[in-house]
Amino acid sequence: MACVISVASGKGGVGKSVVSVNLALVLARKGKQVVLTDLDVGGADVHVLVGLLNPPLTLTDFLNHRIEHLDDVAQRLPIHPNLRIIPGTGDTLATANMVYSQKMRLIRNFQNIRADVIIVDIGAGTGYHALDFFLMADHHLAVATPDPTSVLDLYKFIKLAAIRRVLSMFMGRDVMPDEVTNRDYSSVEEVLDVAGKTDQSGRASAETTLRAFQPTLILNRVSGRARVNVLQLRKLLKEYVGGDLTLLGEIPEDSAMEQAVRAYLPVVQYAPSSPAAAAMERMGETLLQLLTTPPAQAA
Ligand SMILES: Nc1ncnc2c1ncn2[C@@H]1O[C@H](COP(=O)(O)OP(=O)(O)OP(=O)(O)O)[C@@H](O)[C@H]1O
Ligand SMILES: [Mg+2]
Repeated sequence: MACVISVASGKGGVGKSVVSVNLALVLARKGKQVVLTDLDVGGADVHVLVGLLNPPLTLTDFLNHRIEHLDDVAQRLPIHPNLRIIPGTGDTLATANMVYSQKMRLIRNFQNIRADVIIVDIGAGTGYHALDFFLMADHHLAVATPDPTSVLDLYKFIKLAAIRRVLSMFMGRDVMPDEVTNRDYSSVEEVLDVAGKTDQSGRASAETTLRAFQPTLILNRVSGRARVNVLQLRKLLKEYVGGDLTLLGEIPEDSAMEQAVRAYLPVVQYAPSSPAAAAMERMGETLLQLLTTPPAQAA
């Protein structure tokens, strides 16, 4: 079965899509069969970043049952023989009509995609769809820029994802019906308290789930002036969320990235010797090592 990697952020426009397409191409070049998937419902644009301006098939075809198997929507890209794409739907959440059963069908279908790695670009924000798509993965990448609002939104996103993860563990399901989470939990501690009341081992298993939740951070648009105190963010998350956060890598602010977007190509192809491309290459290498190292055993 393919290894699923989700790419999310709290705030929009921080570089999820450019990170997704570049990592996908780097891994494809390293011999992996990669499927790049755009689950940014309503804001789908990943296909444009890899030069596919008018995709013949999109996620809409799957959601409308015109295509039954998600794998059949994955189309090969001219930029690399190992790379396929599932273009997103141009529909909004409402028109895509993604009710609970649709979402479950979509998530279940990921198991039948023929690939080594699936990279899933997720829309910004903390809606249930974004959180569930983020959590369905084996590896969770969170993108932020050094902008303080981006870091704050990232913190909020990870906190809500952690809460949803604990709740879904309790429900014994991979995804929960939205009604269950309609109650607003403002902190992880609150969930742990509720968990503790369910049964003797409730709190302990919630804490174990939280410890096993270890998203990986990617910092984008880093420059001499704009940096992030990763240690401090990590401490904050450990203290208030319970999980650990590791840094996968940093991507510098680089005009080559913007030029590549305008040329409809990933920067690793458009400007391979640029600092941003070099950073993406290194990150792909680190990610590959992460994928081949067996995950820490979650109890
Ligand atoms: N390292 C960088 N250096 C310079 N510009 C960058 C860098 N990373 C991203 N950008 C610019 O930011 C724009 C937005 O990036 P991208 O579309 O990947 O963000 P996103 O998080 O996917 O946005 P959305 O939330 O709207 O989906 C790109 O088109 C590019 O011009
Ligand atoms: Mg995007």
